[in-house]
Amino acid sequence: MEYGVAPESPSAANEWLEKNKGKFNLYFDGKWQTPLSKKYFDTINPANKKTLAKIAEANATDVDKAVKAAKKALPKWVKLGAHGRARYLYAIARQIQKHSRLFAVLESMDNGKPIRESRDIDIPLVARHFYHHAGWAQLRDTELKDYKEIGVIAQIIPWNFPLLMLAWKIAPALAMGNTVVLKPAEFTSLTALLFAELCDEIGLPAGVVNIITGDGKTGAAMVNHPSVDKIAFTGSTDVGRIIRRATAGTGKKISLELGGKSPFIVFEDADLDSVVEGVVDAIWFNQGQVCCAGSRLLVQESIAERLYAKIRNRMEKLRVGDSLDKSIDIGAIVAPVQLQVIEKLVQQGVDEGGNMWQPSWSCPVEGYFYPPTLFTDVTPAATIAQVEIFGPVLVAMTFRTHPEAIRLANNTRYGLAASIWTENINLALDVAPKIKAGTVWINCTNVFDAASGFGGYRESGFGREGGKEGLYEYVKLRSEESHTAKKTALKKNAASESSSSDLPAIDRTTKLYVGGKQVRPDSGYSLTIKNGAGKSIATVGLGNRKDIRNAVEAAHAAESWTSMSGHARAQVLYYIAENLYIREDEFIKRLMQFGLSKTDASKEVSMSIERIYTYAAYADKYDGSVHHTLSRNVTLAMPEPLGVLGIVCPEEAPLLAFVSSVIPAIAMGNRVVVVPSETAPLSATDLYQIFETSDLPGGVVNIVTGVRDELSAVLANHDDVDGLWYFGTLEGSKLIENAAAENMKRTWVNFGKQRDWSENHAGEHEFFLRNATQIKNIWIPYGE
Ligand code: NAI
Ligand code: MG
Repeated sequence: MEYGVAPESPSAANEWLEKNKGKFNLYFDGKWQTPLSKKYFDTINPANKKTLAKIAEANATDVDKAVKAAKKALPKWVKLGAHGRARYLYAIARQIQKHSRLFAVLESMDNGKPIRESRDIDIPLVARHFYHHAGWAQLRDTELKDYKEIGVIAQIIPWNFPLLMLAWKIAPALAMGNTVVLKPAEFTSLTALLFAELCDEIGLPAGVVNIITGDGKTGAAMVNHPSVDKIAFTGSTDVGRIIRRATAGTGKKISLELGGKSPFIVFEDADLDSVVEGVVDAIWFNQGQVCCAGSRLLVQESIAERLYAKIRNRMEKLRVGDSLDKSIDIGAIVAPVQLQVIEKLVQQGVDEGGNMWQPSWSCPVEGYFYPPTLFTDVTPAATIAQVEIFGPVLVAMTFRTHPEAIRLANNTRYGLAASIWTENINLALDVAPKIKAGTVWINCTNVFDAASGFGGYRESGFGREGGKEGLYEYVKLRSEESHTAKKTALKKNAASESSSSDLPAIDRTTKLYVGGKQVRPDSGYSLTIKNGAGKSIATVGLGNRKDIRNAVEAAHAAESWTSMSGHARAQVLYYIAENLYIREDEFIKRLMQFGLSKTDASKEVSMSIERIYTYAAYADKYDGSVHHTLSRNVTLAMPEPLGVLGIVCPEEAPLLAFVSSVIPAIAMGNRVVVVPSETAPLSATDLYQIFETSDLPGGVVNIVTGVRDELSAVLANHDDVDGLWYFGTLEGSKLIENAAAENMKRTWVNFGKQRDWSENHAGEHEFFLRNATQIKNIWIPYGE
C-alpha cells in the first residue's frame, strides 16, 4: 500500500514569522532589544534547507544587560510570594495550550522533527511541566521551608527538544522564586522567542524571564558572568566539562544534563513484538537525537537473530520525510554539521568491522535526512558502541547470561537511562538496581513526565529535572547564608599540660586505617601532631597517593555494605554510638588536648553520639517515593548511594565534623575514604578501635591522615571515586571542582566557608543525606 502525504499547514507559523519580518531581537527586561553586536544569523528548516528567520547574536554586553535585568527583577519576584508565582506559572501553562498547534508546527519546522511528535509529545509535555510546577510554586513554602531561591539562573539548552528543554529549565526555576536568562540552541531559537512573546502577553513582570540568542560564545559569556548564581545546562559532555571547569571555585551552582549511550536490554523471554515497537521509540524517536536514546541494543544470544530480522522488517517500513507530513516516522537531522557527525561515526563503525544494515529505500534529497541504521556484530570496545552518535543509528551486541548483560550495560562512561525487556518481573527488578543510570524503564522506553525526575549518573551529568527531586536544583538551604569565611581555627595555647598526661606518649605512631586494618603509610613517614599549646604529642602516618588508591580499592571491595538493609546498617551505627559513649572520657580528654574546655569537649562528644543516633534513625527512613506520573506506570523514585565517596574533613570540630559527615554518608550505604582534620586528626584515629569493636565491616570507612590538600587532590583526580565532599579552603574547593570535571564526579565543597557544626541545620540536616545519594527513577507498568 502506498501512503499519500498528509501535510500539516505551515501557514500560521509563516504568518507569525512574517509578522516579525523574519527577524528576531533579544528579549530582556520585558522588551525586545536590538543586539549590540548588530549581528544576526540564519535559522533553517532542515527538512528543506530553507531559511526561516534571522536571529540576533548576543555578545557579552548584551548578556550583561540581560543578567542585570534578571537581577533587578529578583527582589520583587521573591516578594510576590508562592501564590503569586503559582498564578503566573498557571497562566503560562494555559497560554501554551492555547497556542499549542502554532508551537508544534514552528518546532517541527525549525528542528525537523515529525509534527506527530511535536504535537503529541513535546508540546503537551511542555504544558504539563508548567502546570505541575505551578503546583510546586504554590507549595514551596510548606514543602521546602528550610530552603530559599538561589537568585539569577543562566540556562543553556540544546536543539533536540527546544521548547521542552526550556520548560524543564524555566518552570522549576520560576516556581522556586528565581529569575532566569535562557539561551536556546542556535539551530532552534524560534519557539523560545514565541515563548518570550507569550510571557509578555500574560504580563509576566519585566526581567523575570529573559531570552537571549546566540551560539557557544554567548553561552560562555553567560557562564562567566559574575552575577549569575547558578547555571543549568543540557547538551554535550564536552561543553558540560568546560562549564564545570569555568565555574570551579566561583561558588556558582551547576546542574548538567549531558549525553548518554543508554542500554536497551532484551532478555530471551521478552515479548518480541513489543520490543520491536520499543526499539522504534528508543532510537528512531526524534531521529535518535535524544540524550537518553536506547542506542545500545543488548540482546540475549538465543533470540538475537530472530529479533534482528523483526527489526529489519520494521525498519523497511519506516518513512523518512518532511517534518510537517503527518504520516512520516522520522524527520530531518537538525543541521548539516550533525549529519556529518553521524556519517563519520557510521563509517567508522563499518571500518571497525561492524555489520551495517539500512533499508532498501532512499531518503528524500531536499533536506538533511539520514536513514534508520542497524549495526550488528559490534564489539563492546568499538567506537560506535562507546561514543554517543546522536542520530538514528542502533548498535546491537549480544550476551549470554544475566550478569553479562549487566556488565555490558554498565560498560560505558555514561549513565543516563536504561530500558529492560522481559516478561519476568523478578528478573526485571533484579537488574534495575544493578544498572548505573538515573532512569530505568521496564518494558517501556522514553517515557517522561513532569512528576518524575530525570538526570544522569557518571558522565551523563548531575542534578535532576522534574519531580520533587528536581526542585532542589533551584533552591539553597537558608542556613547556608550563616556560613562564614572567617577562620575559627583550633584554639591556641589553651591546652593544659595535665589534661594530656594520661594519654599515649609521643612514641606512639598512629597508622592509617584501610580495609578494616591499621596499616603503615606507604611513604614510611609520619606527621607530628602538636597540641593546643604547641607541644608535640603524637605522630600519625603521612598518607600519600598510593595510600589513597589502596583505600579507594578497599572501599570498592566493601560493596556488601551497600546491599545491606537500612535496618542492618542502623544496628552497626547504634553500636558505634554505644562504644563511643563507653569511651567518652577518653575522647573528651583528646579534644581538651587541642584547646577545648572540658565543657566544650564534653558537648562535642555528646553531640557526636546524638548525631550518630540521628543518622542511624534515618538509615531505614530516608526513602524514596512513588511519583504520580501520567502514564500507566508506577514510577519509583529510589535514593541510591553514590558509591565510593571521598570526605575531606575541616580543621575545626575534629570529632564532630568527622561524625557529622562520615556517618550520614555510610548510613545511606556509601563506602568512604576520609581525610581527617590535618592538625587534629587524633579524634579520628582514636575511632579505629571503636569501628573495630562495632561490627563495621572492613573497607566501609577508610582513614588516611596526612596533608589535606595533597590527599584531596588525589581523591579528586581518582576515576573510581564517585563523589567528593570537601570542607577546606577556597583554593582547595576550586581545585576539587576543576579536577572533578574529568569523570564528572559529584562534589560538595565549602568554598572556604565554615559551618557551625554544633548548630543543627548547619551540622545535621537531611541535606547531608541528599548529598550522599542520587535518585533513580524506575518506571514499572502498572494498572490499566
Ligand atoms: P553543545 O553542547 O555544543 O550545545 C548545547 C548548548 O550549549 C547550545 O545552546 C550551545 O550554544 C551551547 N554552548 C556551546 N558551547 C558552549 C560553551 N562553551 N559555553 C556555554 N554554552 C555553550 O551541543 P552540540 O554541538 O549542539 O551537539 C554536539 C553533540 O552533543 C551531539 O552530537 C550530541 O552528542 C550532544 N548533545 C547532547 C544533548 C543532550 O540532550 N544531552 C543535546 C544536544 C547535543
Ligand atoms: Mg532551525
